[in-house]
Amino acid sequence: MSADAPLWWDDGALFLIDQTALPHEVRIRRCTSWPDVADAILTLQVRGAPALGVAAAYGLALAARQSGGRPDAVREAAWGLRRTRPTAVNLGWALDHLLRVMDARGQGRLEDRMLAAAHALARADVETNRRMGRHGARLLRPGAAVLTYCNTGMLATAGYGTAFGVLRAAHEQGLGIRVVACETRPVLQGARLTAWELRRYGIPCTLITDNAAGALMRAGDIDAVVVGADRIAANGDVANKVGTYTLAVLADAHRIPFYVAAPTSTIDLNTPDGDGIPIEERDPEEVISVRGVRIAPDGVAVRNPAFDVTPHRLVTAIVTEAGVVRAPYPAGLRAAVAADSTAAGGGA
Ligand code: MRU
Repeated sequence: MSADAPLWWDDGALFLIDQTALPHEVRIRRCTSWPDVADAILTLQVRGAPALGVAAAYGLALAARQSGGRPDAVREAAWGLRRTRPTAVNLGWALDHLLRVMDARGQGRLEDRMLAAAHALARADVETNRRMGRHGARLLRPGAAVLTYCNTGMLATAGYGTAFGVLRAAHEQGLGIRVVACETRPVLQGARLTAWELRRYGIPCTLITDNAAGALMRAGDIDAVVVGADRIAANGDVANKVGTYTLAVLADAHRIPFYVAAPTSTIDLNTPDGDGIPIEERDPEEVISVRGVRIAPDGVAVRNPAFDVTPHRLVTAIVTEAGVVRAPYPAGLRAAVAADSTAAGGGA
C-alpha cells in the first residue's frame, strides 16, 4: 500500500483503498478492467472529484491495455466511465485529456501512452494540491478554528488534498490551526474519512454533527470555513457535497469567511452558472440506513441529492493552484484556467 495516496498502479492493475471500509479497516481493491473501476466509482470505494478523474484515467489505460490498443474499445470505456458520476467535472476532464492523448497518435504503443498519461495526471494532481495548499494557508490566521465538510484529503485526490491540503499546509507551517469536521450525512465522509486523515497527520480536530455547525458559529467558535468543490461554474457558483450551501448561508449570516479550494480542473468555463450543473441523485438507501442499519420506516419517500450549489455571492474566495481568485469571478476564473494551461501544458 502506498503511504500517502488512495490509488496506485502495480503489475498491470489499479489498486485503491476501499473508502467504504474506512476508518475501521484499510481494505485494498484491485481493479483489472475498466468496468471494475466504474464499479469502484459507483459504490464510492473511490470518491472525491480529483480522485475520480485519476481513477477514470487509469480505467482508460486498462481498456487500452486489455483491447490491445483498440481506439473503439477505449472510446466505449470512456463512455461507460463518464456516466458513473455526473457532477464532478474532473472525471470528464481527465477522460477528455486521455482521449486527446490517444487521438494525437504519438510514438509507441497506445496502451503505454495511455498509462504514461494517467501517471502524469496523478503526479500533476499532487503538485497542484501542494501549490493550492500554500496559497490557501495564507488566508488563515494563527490559531484559527476552521470548519470543513465532506472529505477533501489525500483520499479524495491523488494525494495531499484540496481544501484539506489548505488545512494540512497551515498545520505544516506551524499556524496552530484547529479543524472542526462535519460528519457529512448521508454516507459520513467527514466522520469516517476526514477525521481519520486529520488524526493520521496529527492535526487537532473536533468532529460535530452537521446540524451543530450553526450553533458553533453563533458561539464564535468558528473563524473560517474551507470546503472543496466538484464543479465550479464560469460565474463562480460552486457545486459541492450536499449541505455545503447550508454552511455558506450560515457563514454569511455570521460574517465568517467561506473559502472554496479546488484545482483549475474543477472549473467548468462551459457551464455559465450553477443552474447548469447536473446534480447526482443517489440511492434512497443511503438516507434510510446508516452503515447498513435501517433508521427510517419502510416505504418513506426519500430525496437524496448528492450535491448542492452555493451561489458565488456567498463565496469569499476560491483557492486554486494558480492563486486566490476573488469576485468578480468570471475574469479571475478564466485567468486561473489560462495560467494553468500555460504552466502545465493542459494540466498534465
Ligand atoms: O460524493 P463524494 O464523496 O465524491 O463528494 C466529494 C465532495 O463533495 C468533495 O468535497 C469534492 O469532491 C472535493 S474533493 C477534493
